[in-house]
Amino acid sequence: MLVLGIETSCDETGVALYDTHQKLLGHTLYSQIDMHRDYGGVVPELASRDHIRRVLPLIKEVFKQTNLSLEKIDAIAYTQGPGLAGALLTGASISNALAFVRNIPILNIHHLEGHLLSPLLSDPAPTFPFIALLVSGGHTQLMHVAGIGQYKLLGETVDDAAGEAFDKTAKLLGLSYPGGKLLADLATHGQLNRFKLPRPMLNSHDLNFSFSGLKTAVALLINKQQTDFQTRADIALAFEEAVTDVLVKKSITALKTTGLQQLVVAGGVGANSRLRQKLQHSLAGTGIAVFFPKLEFCTDNGAMIALAGALRLQQLDGKLPKTDGSFTIKARWNLEDL
Ligand code: KG4
Ligand code: ZN
Repeated sequence: MLVLGIETSCDETGVALYDTHQKLLGHTLYSQIDMHRDYGGVVPELASRDHIRRVLPLIKEVFKQTNLSLEKIDAIAYTQGPGLAGALLTGASISNALAFVRNIPILNIHHLEGHLLSPLLSDPAPTFPFIALLVSGGHTQLMHVAGIGQYKLLGETVDDAAGEAFDKTAKLLGLSYPGGKLLADLATHGQLNRFKLPRPMLNSHDLNFSFSGLKTAVALLINKQQTDFQTRADIALAFEEAVTDVLVKKSITALKTTGLQQLVVAGGVGANSRLRQKLQHSLAGTGIAVFFPKLEFCTDNGAMIALAGALRLQQLDGKLPKTDGSFTIKARWNLEDL
């Protein structure tokens, strides 16, 4: 079965073709980051308009890349939520229109389900059950994943998401939006242990996180220091150390308490090399395997949506959902409600 996946939940338009036998055949992506950078964050109205501009050319491009056409696809999967309403509407309307015209099944995919299944695009891939650490710009969650659609929330952030904390702290350090990667690059020049920042909720005896206090701690530190390049790099490293220490400790606790042997890291912050190194180092010799999506599939993309759609399709076993052309989007949508 050949599935066309369409992602438009935020500031990336992603399109992909995934075949249940041959796996990922091709994918295309357009990132709006340059457009939003001047505003220091995503402007929802600009985002929706840009998705409208990009989505059809990207669909044509992925067909060209793969020598396939609309007539060949068996189903369409698109991000129904959560995300920006106007942005979601673009993907929902084009997907429903195409599925209606072709009279093929349509799969309404949860954006975070796409992220947490994205390590299945790699080889070797994890097998169910596993623990997923979902760390993106909008979410920080530890999930118990027993199978497709079987997600149990073990813990989550009580305030800012890890990516949001990276972005806000990067802004304090004078870096542009989105600052996660830029802060990580700056931190590579930092000296370890010049500054020590708190590890929020490290010993809270649960699997929740809190990151908003760290940003405040960084703001106080910046006010007290001469912010020359070296100082900013040292602060960036201290921040990265604090966030990754908490993410690693809580992930290990989740593994220990559930007895599961596989950890999957997904979402944009999953691209962070320090987090990857620390997890690999801490789990070496424990028999626990850690899986990361390829860097291009850490941040938003169409491949993870096409994959989630294909897996859902296989699970439906003949009871295929069709569209009459009408649709709804879910700007807010709890993953556990799936
Ligand atoms: O998953 P994603 O593309 O978007 C959401 O669905 O939120 O994640 C984007 C987030 C941003 O906050 C970005 O700054 C962060 O991931 N990010 C990073 C890195 N690369 C992206 N954070 C830390 N280190 C990185 N290398
Ligand atoms: Zn995302």
